[in-house]
Amino acid sequence: MLSVGNSIFFQLVNIVALITCDNLIVKTTTGQVKGIVLTTFLGNREYIAYKGIPYAEPPIGRLRFKAPLPIASWPKVFSAAKYGSSCIVLADSNLFPLNSTQSENCLYLNIFTPVMELKKYNSSKAVMFFIHGGGFAEGDGTDGFYGPDFLIDQDMVVVTINYRLGPWGFSNFDIKGYTGNMGFKDQQLALEWVAKNIKYFGGNPNLITVIGQSAGGASTHLHMLSERSRKCIRRAICMSGVAFSVFADYRPNNHIEFYKKVFELDAESTGNDVLNFMLTAPIETIVRKMPAFNIHNYIVNMNFAAVIEDETKAEQPFLTQRPRDIYKTTKVKINAMFGFTSSEAIMMVNPILVDGYYYWIEPMKNYSMIGLPFSGLTLSQNSFEYRQAAKKIYNYYFGTRKLKPTLENLNIYVQLCSDVNYVYSINEALKYHSKGAKTFCYENQLDLNLNAYKIRHHMRTLHGTSHSEDLFYLFSSKEYAQLYTKVLASPNRTKNRKTLKALHFLPKMFADFAKTGKARNFTTFGNWTNCIRITNDGLKPFLRQRTDTMKFWDDIYNSVKPWIVEPF
Ligand SMILES: *[C@@H]1O[C@H](CO)[C@@H](O)[C@H](O)[C@H]1NC(C)=O
Ligand SMILES: *[C@@H]1O[C@H](CO)[C@@H](O)[C@H](O)[C@H]1NC(C)=O
Ligand SMILES: *[C@@H]1O[C@H](CO)[C@@H](O)[C@H](O)[C@H]1NC(C)=O
Ligand SMILES: *[C@@H]1O[C@H](CO)[C@@H](O)[C@H](O)[C@H]1NC(C)=O
Ligand SMILES: *[C@@H]1O[C@H](CO)[C@@H](O)[C@H](O)[C@H]1NC(C)=O
Ligand SMILES: *[C@@H]1O[C@H](CO)[C@@H](O)[C@H](O)[C@H]1NC(C)=O
Repeated sequence: MLSVGNSIFFQLVNIVALITCDNLIVKTTTGQVKGIVLTTFLGNREYIAYKGIPYAEPPIGRLRFKAPLPIASWPKVFSAAKYGSSCIVLADSNLFPLNSTQSENCLYLNIFTPVMELKKYNSSKAVMFFIHGGGFAEGDGTDGFYGPDFLIDQDMVVVTINYRLGPWGFSNFDIKGYTGNMGFKDQQLALEWVAKNIKYFGGNPNLITVIGQSAGGASTHLHMLSERSRKCIRRAICMSGVAFSVFADYRPNNHIEFYKKVFELDAESTGNDVLNFMLTAPIETIVRKMPAFNIHNYIVNMNFAAVIEDETKAEQPFLTQRPRDIYKTTKVKINAMFGFTSSEAIMMVNPILVDGYYYWIEPMKNYSMIGLPFSGLTLSQNSFEYRQAAKKIYNYYFGTRKLKPTLENLNIYVQLCSDVNYVYSINEALKYHSKGAKTFCYENQLDLNLNAYKIRHHMRTLHGTSHSEDLFYLFSSKEYAQLYTKVLASPNRTKNRKTLKALHFLPKMFADFAKTGKARNFTTFGNWTNCIRITNDGLKPFLRQRTDTMKFWDDIYNSVKPWIVEPF
C-alpha cells in the first residue's frame, strides 16, 4: 500500500501536446494546470475537475514534522487529471478504508468548477472549501467519499484537500520548529492558495465557505479562531465536530512521553532524542505500532489532534491560546452553522469495533462506564463528586429500572454517547460563537437508503443517523457507489424517492447558506437564533427536547466546575 510518492514531475505534461485543447488550462500563481471534463451523475451537468494540484513542498526528509512550505512554481503545464497520493494512515485507523495510494508526499488539493468557459471567467460562484474528517488520522479529499456532484448541481465551486494525518500531521515535540499542528497549517496553506487562485476557476475569493466534518469540523472551527485563516473565510459550517469536541485536542499537549512508551525508548530520552528517533523511523514501523486513539469509558480521545503551541518555539504558529480564551478577547465575526446527526454514536456500538452490542451494560450498572466530557476536569473517577454526577447521568438516561440488554436501552446508550462525545460540545460552540456572529444549527435525522454505516454493518434497527452518514447526502461516494446505484435502479420506491429528494434539499440547504448566509426554513427559538431539523420529509422546525438535555448537562458541569482547570 505504501509507496514513496511519485515526484510531481512525472505528472508534468509536455505543453506542445496540449495546444489544441487549451480551454481546460488555467494559469495559477504557481503555474498552469490542465483539468478534465466530467459530468455530475444525478444532474447530468458538465464540470471541470482539477485533481491533485500540489500546494506545498513535499513534507518529506528534513521537512517531516515541520510547518509546510508553499510550493515553488512549476514550469510546464501540470496535468490535473488524477488525484494525488493520500496521506499515510495508521494501521489502527481504519473505520473508512480507502482504496488509494498513500505517501508522505501527499499535500494536494482538488478543484471542481461548474464554469465551463474559464477563458471568459466571471469570478462570481460561491466556493466550498471542504476539510475531511477521520479523527485527524485517516481520510483524504478524493471521490472515494467526497465526490462534488451534488454541490456542482447547486452551482458551487468545490475544493477538497489532503492534509497530513496522525503523527505526520500532529506530533508536538515542544522543540523549536517542531511544535505540532502541522495538519492545520497544511489546511491553512491550502486555503490561502485557494483564496489567491480560485478566481481563475470561476470562484469568488470573497465568498469562500470553509466546511468540515468531525475532525474536519473541529478544524473548521479552529480556522475561524485563527486570525490568519480568518482573512480567507466568509462563512463556515462545522458538521459533527468543533474545537470543544472531546476529540479535538490532545490533552498531554506534547507527544514525547507517549512516543517513549509506544517505541519503548529509554526513559531518560530527551525531546531531541525522541524527535531524532521519529525523523528516522521507517514509515512501516510507525504505521504498525502507533495507536491512533483511545476510548476511556465511552469517551473517544485522539492521540493526534490540536495542541497549544509555545509561542517562543513555534514557526508559523497556528494555535497559541486555548479556544475559550480566544473567544474572550476576540470577536469572531464569521457567520457559521454548527450541526450534528441524530445518533452520532451508532459508530461506537459497532460489534466489529467492540465486543458485541451490549459490552457496556455491566460497567454501566456500577457507573464505571460513565465519563464526564469536560475538558480540563481534574476530578478522579472514584471521587464522591464524580460518582454523584455519574449517578445523576445514569438516572437521567436510564431511569431507575433495572438495566437490561434491550434494543430500547441500546438506543438510549447511543444517545448518551452522542451527547457526551458530540452534542454537548457543539452546544458550547453555539453559545460562544453566537456572541459575535450570526449562528445557525441543525440536527440531521436522515435515515434513508444512503445511511452507509448502518447498512454496511447491519445496524438499521437502531434509530437515527450515525456519525458521518450525513456525508453521503452531501457528497457522492465511489466507495459506496452501489448504494447510489440501487437507489437509482428503483427510483419509484418510496424510500428511494425520498432519498433522491434528500440528495437535492440537503446540498441545497448547505449551498444556500454558503451563497447567502441564510437558509430557508430555519426556526428561531431560545437564544440559539436559528435551528432546523433535516428529516426524511424535508426541513422541519427544531425540537426543544435537546435544550432540556443540554440544560441537564449544564447542571452536571456546574456540579464539578471547581475541579475544571484550563479547559481547551
Ligand atoms: C481500487 O483501485 C484500483 C486502481 O485504481 C482499481 O483497479 C480497483 O478496481 C479499485 N478497487 C475497488 C474495490 O474500488
Ligand atoms: C457574472 O455572473 C453573474 C451571475 O451569472 C452576473 O450576475 C454578473 O453580472 C456577471 N458579471 C460580469 C462582470 O459579467
Ligand atoms: C464495575 O463493573 C465492572 C464490570 O462488571 C467491573 O469490571 C469493575 O471492576 C466494576 N468497578 C467498580 C468501581 O466497582
Ligand atoms: C416511475 O414512475 C414514473 C411515473 O409514474 C414512470 O414514468 C417511470 O417509468 C417509473 N420508473 C421506473 C423505473 O419504474
Ligand atoms: C438568553 O440570553 C439572555 C441575555 O444574554 C440571558 O439573560 C438568558 O438567560 C438567556 N436564556 C437562555 C435560556 O439561555
Ligand atoms: C420549508 O417549509 C415549507 C413550509 O413549511 C415547506 O413547504 C417546504 O417543503 C420546506 N422546505 C424544505 C426544503 O423542506
